[in-house]
Amino acid sequence: MATPHIGCEKDDIAETVLMPGDPLRAKYIAENFLEDYKLVNEVRNMFAYTGTYKGKKVTVFASGMGIPSIGIYSYELYRYYGVKSIIRIGTCGSFNKNIKLLDVILSSGAYCKSYFDELLDGVDIDFIQSSESLNRRIMNTAKIKGMDLKYGKTITSDIFDLYCDDEEKFRGNFPSMDFLSVEMEAFGLFYIAKKLGKEASCLMTVVDSLYDKRSLTSEDRETSLNNMIKMALESII
Ligand code: HPA
Repeated sequence: MATPHIGCEKDDIAETVLMPGDPLRAKYIAENFLEDYKLVNEVRNMFAYTGTYKGKKVTVFASGMGIPSIGIYSYELYRYYGVKSIIRIGTCGSFNKNIKLLDVILSSGAYCKSYFDELLDGVDIDFIQSSESLNRRIMNTAKIKGMDLKYGKTITSDIFDLYCDDEEKFRGNFPSMDFLSVEMEAFGLFYIAKKLGKEASCLMTVVDSLYDKRSLTSEDRETSLNNMIKMALESII
């Protein structure tokens, strides 16, 4: 069995998938958090590993960047590989005064002006919620483990916002909802999950902020990313 973008057997993929954007982060997660893992996809170097975490079978599958890329992988995993839940674990920016660098955010839903939904289904949806039940599990885990977790709305953009010449103009494209984060994938994942009757959540570590201009050490980044990975893994066991 194979799909246009995934080259493994159905059995090679777990029902629950953690989805970082970067293929090398998928490798890092497998090597540092999973047991008995094996490489199950390397088509286009979009690495995926399946192993166990505390005895539970889990797949870490990279999404690449942007809605088109995460749209393809989430669709094929849900539709052809029997995947039930995907938790995106990525990075994001923020232009919210209450959000600090390295905060970990759980997305309640994503606002997006992409053409994706119209091309796929002839509909024009601006905001789509993540999965309440999966979110609840993640929030409970964070609470039990004493991990700080912010919960709120995300902007999914078709451009990397930091490359916009005019930040104010960029922000003016979106309604004045209280957005916590900006990134480029959540809407695509939530949309595909909802279309196929599956679960999806999105955890993000804040790596750019309009209001917090400290420079991050690679150690700080790694600690925060590791916390987010642990939060995702603990919530699925
Ligand atoms: N993704 C990840 N990090 C970011 C982004 C984004 O779209 N914007 C600002 N920092």
